[in-house]
Amino acid sequence: MPLNAITDDFFQLGPRRGQPGLDRARERIGASLREYGFAGLTGLRTRADVLESAHLLLGELRVHRDSGPDGLTVVRDLGEVAHRAGFGGFGREELLPHTDGTQVAEPARLVLLACQAGARSGGESILVDGSAVLRELASAHPDALTALTQPRAAYFGGTAGHFAPVLRQIGDGRWQIRLRLDPELARFSPDAEPHLPTLRDTVRRHLRTVLLRPGQALLIDNSRTLHGRAAFTGERLMLRALGTPHPRLRLLPGFAAALDARCSHGTEQPCA
Ligand SMILES: [Fe+2]
Repeated sequence: MPLNAITDDFFQLGPRRGQPGLDRARERIGASLREYGFAGLTGLRTRADVLESAHLLLGELRVHRDSGPDGLTVVRDLGEVAHRAGFGGFGREELLPHTDGTQVAEPARLVLLACQAGARSGGESILVDGSAVLRELASAHPDALTALTQPRAAYFGGTAGHFAPVLRQIGDGRWQIRLRLDPELARFSPDAEPHLPTLRDTVRRHLRTVLLRPGQALLIDNSRTLHGRAAFTGERLMLRALGTPHPRLRLLPGFAAALDARCSHGTEQPCA
């Protein structure tokens, strides 16, 4: 999918409220999540808009350390706070592609990131399709994939963190990705560590950016798609919500990846 083509394909929930338009919108948003690992939304200009859309798509929001009682987190530059481990999102530096909630046993399935104020420069949202990363590792770097799928391939978080594979097969040819690459929040096993340069290169090759305008948002499948942010100047302000997909989005656990056994010969051609 071309990088900024999603700007022509942002879904609007607002005029579709009420059945059955709402269900049709959910079907289309679910189809985009299944196909691309994310969906673009528009019409989320205020906190109330974001909260309403979040409830329509995610149901109950996950309340956590950084969120308000309503489940929304204001993501903006908070100065010195951003220098503390785990608070890098609250600065203006580049944020490496990652999945949210790596340090907990069950990360939120969906992440909603809604732009409320754009940056003066920079601040593009970064997306990386984990299924493309998986396919490339399987075809070109099978040893790396083997190491990264081990149950204790990585340890995410601080003292109360979580051991997990970076890529986990959950059955029926379906997978999940869990990844941070910032050293203060992720450590890797001796078997996985030598493959990190390959993993970083592979992630970089599949990186896309999109510049959200105020009122636009990304709904991201956190079990498939990494997200990040380019450095910025100005007063960029995003609202974030975490939660579980509405049943009408029809998301099965993880993402499908048909990996052909013949791919272990080292070709760089994707197998599926
Ligand atoms: Fe994040």
